[in-house]
Formats: sequence, structure tokens, C-alpha cells
Amino acid sequence: MSELFESVSINRLEVKNRFVRSATWEGMADEKGACTTQLIEYMRQLALGEVGLIISGHSYVLPAGQASFRQLGVYEDRLVPGLSDMAAAVHEAGGKIILQLAHAGCHADADLTGTEPAGPSPFTGKSGAACREMTRSEISETVEAFGLAAERAQKAGFDGVQLHAAHGYFLSQFLSPFYNRRTDSYGGSLENRARIVLETYHRVREAVGPEYPVLIKINSEDFVQGEGFTVSEMIQVSRRLKEAGLDAVEMSGGTQNSPAKLNPVRLGKIKTATDEVYYREAARAFKAQVGLPLILVGGIRSYEVAEALVQSGEADFIALSRPLIREPQLIKRWKSGDTARAACRSDNLCFRPAVEGKGLFCVVEAREADKRSENSSIPEKR
Ligand SMILES: Cc1cc2nc3c(=O)[nH]c(=O)nc-3n(C[C@H](O)[C@H](O)[C@H](O)COP(=O)(O)O)c2cc1C
Repeated sequence: MSELFESVSINRLEVKNRFVRSATWEGMADEKGACTTQLIEYMRQLALGEVGLIISGHSYVLPAGQASFRQLGVYEDRLVPGLSDMAAAVHEAGGKIILQLAHAGCHADADLTGTEPAGPSPFTGKSGAACREMTRSEISETVEAFGLAAERAQKAGFDGVQLHAAHGYFLSQFLSPFYNRRTDSYGGSLENRARIVLETYHRVREAVGPEYPVLIKINSEDFVQGEGFTVSEMIQVSRRLKEAGLDAVEMSGGTQNSPAKLNPVRLGKIKTATDEVYYREAARAFKAQVGLPLILVGGIRSYEVAEALVQSGEADFIALSRPLIREPQLIKRWKSGDTARAACRSDNLCFRPAVEGKGLFCVVEAREADKRSENSSIPEKR
């Protein structure tokens, strides 16, 4: 059997294969962030499709940290019963699930939150939305909110938590000199920029205990003009987190302010195996220098590429986002021996229905399904 289908552990969590559904906002929670039956069914289908570990969509730990419409929330105890139902549905279907804990910082949506976004430093993004600098006490409140959210995730029966420190959201903003212009102990040197990430990790670990998987999603690099977070900084921060007791790292890259070709959800069909794997070089450096389990995401589309990544030791887990929107059963298909590459075209049309509140699905697949049903309803000629 391929190494891809061997079980592997992260802390006390045993994952049945090396495939991870990377966190993917579904736009299927209710307008206050509570889990819905639609979202539970979506997660159940992923588990039935045999993905070993599901990471939830980014879940906001404070109302002011909401980034997207109908985003999942974990900012209040009343959200725990819905989250419990989600975790139970995945477990019944034979899967494992981790909650991604997030705050959007400067990229929070003021129309949804009703408050001016706040992050490390004043900032005006591509969209023109302004962001103010957080006070020290707001920083402490946010760290505390991550801790309370982790406690809720554990109470709800999730198998672990992942801190979202990638893609130019709150924790990633602090790491990045592009967003972070602070002159206090949270800005400037790498030690200062990483301070909040370490504080958040420690607060979360204190909340959940030593045996509960705590992961992070971090940028390999920011790919922004001028100073961004770099591969060498990512390695130094990952080492610090390893020493502190973190269990695994998922590596991604880019921010909303990176060029379109280098943003976290790159647009454009990946035509050949050599175009796959956006962060291969950074993954190699990580594996050589950090020594923590690595979940690699970004542009992985074929079975052979996934297998080679694991066999060569460049990655321990293979994470996929868009391929599983198009084919929630992809891993089951690969396991059955049909190892044709993922059908996903990386056209990013899947964002549209989610933004419109219609849920997350592959628009191309839906069009093809419509055509198939139109053709089958045409009466046969006599
Ligand atoms: C619709 C959609 C929503 C996403 N939401 C999240 C999210 O909530 N948290 C996160 O860390 N990444 C999110 N991502 C990024 C993916 O996890 C992943 O890093 C990126 O799509 C590259 O992987 P892929 O080439 O397999 O799609 C999202 C991507 C898509 C397409």
C-alpha cells in the first residue's frame, strides 16, 4: 500500500491517511456564525470521501475578527452545541476534524462586524478599507479570545485546533513587516513580531493541555512588495514554536496584498505536474531545519506528485482545498485505484456562490451536471 494511505499521528491524534482538507471558508454558517445542518452535511461528505483530517473553515474568535459572510464562529459558548454536532457527524463518518481559529485583523469586514477593523498598525488595503492600530489591551483580549475559542473547540469534541497565522490575517499581519509597523514590543525585530504568535500558542496550550493537537498554518513567505515575512523567518518562528511544544505546521503563502499570481489561492489551471506544489522549496528548507510534521498545501493536484512529496520526505501530509470542492470523494477515488489527477481547474469560480450565500460548490461541476441532466431528459428518438 502507498505511504499515502498509512496512518500517522499528530500528538495523540491518529490520522488514517496523509490527506488533509485544508481550511476552506464555506459560507454556510448562519449570519451569526452558528453551525448549520447544511455545513454539517458538507463536512460529513468530506469525511465519507476518506480525507484523513478535515480542517474547518476559519472560525472567528471575536465578533470584530469576522472576515467573511456566513463564516463559522467560535466566539461564544452558545456556538458550542452546533460545533459539537459538526464534530460528531465527522466522527460517525470515520473522519477527524480540527477547528481553525482565526481573526481577520485589518482584513475584518466592517460591514459585517459594524466596527472599524484593527490590526498591528494602521493600514489601507487594496480594497481601500482602513484599519487602525490595536491597543495593548486589545492585543491581550485577542490572545485571550484564542484561548477561550480553543477551550470551546475541545469541549465540542474537535480533535485539535489550528491557529490561522497565514494569508495576511491577524497573526500573519503581526509576523509581517509589511503590515506590522509597530514600535512597541510587538513590532520591529522578528522576536517582537512573533511575540503575539507565541503568546497565543501558550494561551491555547494552557487551555487544552499537553496532549491535545495544536497546529499552526503559516506563510512560507508573504510575496509582498518591499518587506514581507520571509522563508528564513518562517523557519525561525517554527523552531521557536517547536521548542514551545507545537505539534505540526501547515505551510502556505501569500496575502491579499500579494500579486494575484502569488496570492494564497492562485488563479489558473495547473497544466502539468511540474507546475504543481507552490511552496516546494520552502518545504524542503523547513524539513531540513525544523523537524516538525509538515502539512503542505497549495497547488497539489496529482496522486503521483502527492506520493513523491511524502516518499521524498518533503511533506508529511498533503493538504488540498479546491480539489475537494470539486470532488469531495477524491481521496476515496484515488484509494480505489483511479489515480487520475484532480479535476479542479483552479478557476476560483467556487467563491461566487459562497459570497452569494448559496454555499460552496464547484461552478464548473454544477454546469456539467446540469448539462448531463438536460441530455438525459431529452426523449429518445423512436
Ligand atoms: C473558497 C476558499 C476558501 C478558503 N478559506 C480558507 C480558510 O478559511 N482558511 C485558510 O487558511 N485558507 C483558506 N483557503 C485557502 C486554502 O486553504 C488553500 O491554502 C489554498 O486554496 C491553496 O490550496 P489549493 O491549491 O489546494 O486550493 C480558502 C480557499 C478557498 C478556495
